[in-house]
Amino acid sequence: MDNSDYAAFAADVVLIDEHQQLLADLSDTLANRVQTLLNNTAFDGKLASTIASFEPAPLVLVGVGKRDKLGGNAVQKLAKTVYSSLSKYTTHARVWLGDGLDSVMFGQFALALANAAYQFTDYLSQAKSTADHANEKGGVADAPRLTHIELLLKTDTITAYQNVLDFNVALHHGQSLARDLGNMPPNDCNPAYFVQQAQALAKQYPDVLQVKVIGEREMAELGMNCFLAVSNGSTQEGQLVLLEYRGAPDEAAVKAPSDVFDQAPFALVGKGITFDSGGISIKPGLGMGEMKFDMSGAGSVLGTMAALCQARLPINVVGALACAENMPSGQATRPGDIVRAMDGTSVEILNTDAEGRLVLCDSLLYVQRYQPRVIIDVATLTGACIVALGHIRSGLYSNDEDVIFDLEQASQEAHDRVWHMPLDDDYQEQLKSKFADVQNIGGAPAGSVTAACFLARFVENVPWAHLDVAGTAWQTGKEAASTGRPVPLLMHYLNRQVKLAQAN
Ligand code: BES
Ligand code: MN
Ligand code: ZN
Repeated sequence: MDNSDYAAFAADVVLIDEHQQLLADLSDTLANRVQTLLNNTAFDGKLASTIASFEPAPLVLVGVGKRDKLGGNAVQKLAKTVYSSLSKYTTHARVWLGDGLDSVMFGQFALALANAAYQFTDYLSQAKSTADHANEKGGVADAPRLTHIELLLKTDTITAYQNVLDFNVALHHGQSLARDLGNMPPNDCNPAYFVQQAQALAKQYPDVLQVKVIGEREMAELGMNCFLAVSNGSTQEGQLVLLEYRGAPDEAAVKAPSDVFDQAPFALVGKGITFDSGGISIKPGLGMGEMKFDMSGAGSVLGTMAALCQARLPINVVGALACAENMPSGQATRPGDIVRAMDGTSVEILNTDAEGRLVLCDSLLYVQRYQPRVIIDVATLTGACIVALGHIRSGLYSNDEDVIFDLEQASQEAHDRVWHMPLDDDYQEQLKSKFADVQNIGGAPAGSVTAACFLARFVENVPWAHLDVAGTAWQTGKEAASTGRPVPLLMHYLNRQVKLAQAN
């Protein structure tokens, strides 16, 4: 058969548990084929096991193991298996889920399936995945790529599932934007590019989104000298990009950005170092290319704003992107320099590679103008966080029990996991400077904690959380690629706030 026939074929996937309870509601023809396949093979339904038959069209059975044991990790594994087993055969497919997934697991499954289809090929002259594919298929140039999946399920509450699906489609778009920004090279994804992307988003959603940009001149007027101490070393101008999303039901529409909201907004602040060379405290060369991902905090905040716009959550949110490049040059900050943050705090910069906290402290101070109800910052802040938590959980620091609880709940729902870390005042000792109010490094012990303690000094009387995503925002090594985390966590957190408000 030629390739066009091949691509047009639809395939079916049927989930099978160990006791085959999920089979009950299949159409007769499909049920017969499934039964024949089960009768003629030793397929036992173990998690992520597969078996396929090809006539008259591809049919893949995928095991889910024991139904009651389907946790977040199992659902991720299942989605990846379903995607990879199908992607070889078709552009369009149907997946029969029966009543195997509750709505939360269904949401995770749908998102993981969509994320499995993500590719970043903008800089390849010839799309690589297609080329790889073609090799497997004996040189067919444009082998099929799976882009359409129908999910079929058995439920009495289909609208609930549809809402979960819509939410996750919006989340997927935002997460893909965050991944694109992370994967882009740092010569293109620079602070000016973030400004462009924010403005493009506002143009797409003019009724709910306004953008305000603070460049270096205005930063100087505002006294944001910690931020400037980072951006000064680069020829790229530093930019603090503010995205004002007004989705709350009674919120008065505005035509231009305004610090004032009728209903207090949630504030999200992202570290956007578009390349972190370390500055004068320059990093070793090995693996430095991965420091293009140091803008992942800002990328995830922008991705969350995009998802919010698409999902139209009835809530107000301010997103702040703290964008700068950390470079060595004649204008760069020296170790030993002392500068004042926007609130007058003097900071002795003893290591220019501890730059994230410098752009963040001024950005945290700035967003307090909005009188936010909660501030959450997201940053690839410390290598020490990777030592502590590896690449599985993000570090969560907070001054507020409710925020901790809500983020932990959201984290479970999203399967975008966090671990609550300490913020005791005792750690502040390590930040004592001989010459200034505070220094920007706290020494080797508890490096992720002292970085969080530095930030805590710039947040007053507001519930605040800091997410250190150094280990989770991208996969490192040979397969280095952005994960788009923690967009799922942030979206689930905001959605949870909507539901809590509606319940009261
Ligand atoms: N962006 C880095 C942290 C980082 C390192 C994230 C590796 C992911 C992988 C941050 O700006 C940094 O350089 N932090 C220093 C702080 C130190 C100088 C106190 C670090 O972690 O070494
Ligand atoms: Mn650094
Ligand atoms: Zn950094």
